[in-house]
Amino acid sequence: MKKIFTLVIALLFVFTLVACDESDDTITIGANIYTFNDNFMNGVVRPELESYAKEKGVELEVVDSEGSQATLNNQVDTFISKGVDVLAINLVDPAAAPTIIAKAKEADIPLILFNKESTIEGAMDEYDKVWYVGTDSAEAGIIQGEMMVEAWQANTDWDLNSDGVLDYVLLKGEPGHPDAEARTLESVKAFTDAGITVNELGLQPSTTWSTQEANDTMAAWLDTAWGGDIELVISNNDGMAFGAIQAMASKGVSIPVFGVDALEEALAKILSDDMNGTVLNDGVNQARATLDLAINAAMGNDVLEGTDWVLDSATGTKAVRVPYVAVDKDNAADFQ
Ligand code: GAL
Repeated sequence: MKKIFTLVIALLFVFTLVACDESDDTITIGANIYTFNDNFMNGVVRPELESYAKEKGVELEVVDSEGSQATLNNQVDTFISKGVDVLAINLVDPAAAPTIIAKAKEADIPLILFNKESTIEGAMDEYDKVWYVGTDSAEAGIIQGEMMVEAWQANTDWDLNSDGVLDYVLLKGEPGHPDAEARTLESVKAFTDAGITVNELGLQPSTTWSTQEANDTMAAWLDTAWGGDIELVISNNDGMAFGAIQAMASKGVSIPVFGVDALEEALAKILSDDMNGTVLNDGVNQARATLDLAINAAMGNDVLEGTDWVLDSATGTKAVRVPYVAVDKDNAADFQ
């Protein structure tokens, strides 16, 4: 009897050890979103990070940096002191990349930056265990621009005063954000490249790419002396396009509007003719690539091991860039 008892205790001990060991092996990821107050990051990227982490059997904590780089710096310190295996960081300030990279390097923890690319030249070269997951920022603007040029040329009635000049307003995302800067530049450049003269009636940035701010801006523009002259609303993202659409609806006007992201609501609005086009910003695959690279890095593998992702070969930077896709009424239903 005593022997059996000893055996049972011994077995229990072994099981406990195995169980403890398994939980110790679970990869822990410390992640953030620059603000939960962002339609795309909180509505598309964060849910996918969470569900893909479950699928992969890793432990993921996602915190809200509330639009403050100082808050994010503290959150990274906390993750490091908790001993996470890898960091997945959405910068608040793209110029603060060196600060985060230095923290990760000092703690010898791999780091995946995602969605907001560093604007500091050479910052990514300072650490061999940092990678970026995002897009080619200019691509969204180029695609959006091409769609708008095509639509402008096909719909001659959009030129309200028939002067051949495009009178537009532009809702810009966060100033200094590579996506906002490149989309602003490229979307307008598509017109001038096509030989179309443009006239910018208004341009307003929004640090959090906010629907409410865009609504207020558009309402104010519509109230100006030139409000009735606006022929096109170019928006750096869908969230701000929604704000412009609300403002137009409340004033009983309808002006063509194009966004970026292909949020569910944008697809519905395109199909109901309340919006003219958007560009798919594939947040689902960006979230998956972020976690795939993070898990590999935590395990000390090649970050691409067992995945189909490729590192950017054009610039030689350690970046995975998920492609954008044009979305208009013809294909919007395919993305729902
Ligand atoms: C962009 C996206 C915007 C906003 C921004 C945040 O890629 O299109 O809607 O979410 O990221 O950094």
